[in-house]
Amino acid sequence: MSKSIAGFSKLSKSKKIDWMVETYFSNAEQAKTVLKQYWNTNEKLQTLHDEFIENTITNYYLPLGVAPNFLINDTLYTIPMAIEESSVVAAASKAAKFWLDRGGFKTTVISTTKIGQVHFMYHGDKDTLKNYFNHIKPQLIEDAKPITKNMEKRGGGILDIELRDKTNEIDDYYQLHASFETLDAMGANFINSCLEQFAKTFKTEALAFDKFNDEEKQIQIVMSILSNYVPECLVRAEVSCKVEDLTENENISAEEFATKFVQAVNIAEIEPYRAVTHNKGIMNGIDAVVLATGNDFRAIEACAHAYASRNGRYSSLSHAKVEDGMFTFWIEMPLALGTVGGLTGLHPLVKLSLELLHYPNAKELMQIVAVAGLAQNFAALRSLTTTGIQQGHMKMHLMNILNQFEATNEEKLILTEQFKTQTVSHSAVVEAIETLRSKSN
Ligand code: MEV
Repeated sequence: MSKSIAGFSKLSKSKKIDWMVETYFSNAEQAKTVLKQYWNTNEKLQTLHDEFIENTITNYYLPLGVAPNFLINDTLYTIPMAIEESSVVAAASKAAKFWLDRGGFKTTVISTTKIGQVHFMYHGDKDTLKNYFNHIKPQLIEDAKPITKNMEKRGGGILDIELRDKTNEIDDYYQLHASFETLDAMGANFINSCLEQFAKTFKTEALAFDKFNDEEKQIQIVMSILSNYVPECLVRAEVSCKVEDLTENENISAEEFATKFVQAVNIAEIEPYRAVTHNKGIMNGIDAVVLATGNDFRAIEACAHAYASRNGRYSSLSHAKVEDGMFTFWIEMPLALGTVGGLTGLHPLVKLSLELLHYPNAKELMQIVAVAGLAQNFAALRSLTTTGIQQGHMKMHLMNILNQFEATNEEKLILTEQFKTQTVSHSAVVEAIETLRSKSN
């Protein structure tokens, strides 16, 4: 029977584990052994990981793979990807190789503006509020100087603050809608600190604004927080080649492949059921690089899907066309990423990943991540419109099934060989293991 506990976060790591295994596990010792198996033997490194979050009990491994041969704006990259899904890195590598021979990926950063908002309630005359906002705006910026001065020295800072009237949706609701340039930082702490300072100045100075009546002086701050929706922090990645150069598979002509590919993208543009899966495939590539480089994949995900719905219907993040004999496939999406701050200077594998990528700045990382998304989408659509997805997917999944059955190295060798020519399905693999094992008994 589970029970609640007071002061859990104050217990030592080993006491936390003791309480947890004794409360929830039928075999407490075995659960403890599993947790400890994943501790790093290097104590300093383990402490670093312990201190990333509260109540750490062990480490949760994800494979870190690499996809080589990405030619992006004429520079070659090997892209690090942290992901558990078996076919993703293989698919990225395949797409990279395909486009390496066809001019590679071309990318551009379109914009880098980030957004934050102070949400507040004001009861009173709208024009007087506008008047107050115009009066106080220079002071909002001035009072934030201790926070912004270093960022400004490097060329970033507050771009603008607007007063937004939202009273047609919620009575008395307004916003200070601020835009920022945060350069190589993802900028969450910088933006939130600025916003909290804006809120403080805005509320306090209202008390002394003589055009406000007593009620108008009582501005209520609801919250101050950055927005992860950054439709003006946009990057574009593209591949293109002559349609005739798309040939690779003898079972389908280049023209037919190009037509089917564009149709598949068009379907994702108009059909939300397909668009979600289509974009999920894109996020397979995006999240894996975002995670490997220590960025916040939840923020990236939330923003990507909001952006995919910006015209009122959830739609594809990528697009494709054939024009004058040229096939073009591209993605344009918001990506708020950082290469300084956060985990980037702390996590040894993040540091390693950034070095592998030639220490990109935030703009370069936006381009690399967008390419990983486009490559992943290309690989998925290529399989879907030709062989079907299961062939490649199940081939990669074979090892997971073999591991589930605790196959020995010898069994793995025999069965991977066998499934080079046989279609992989869960039941076919199980049958093959059983047959192999019955023969050796
Ligand atoms: C699987 O993780 C991703 C795909 O479903 C994407 C797609 O359908 O485009 C293969």
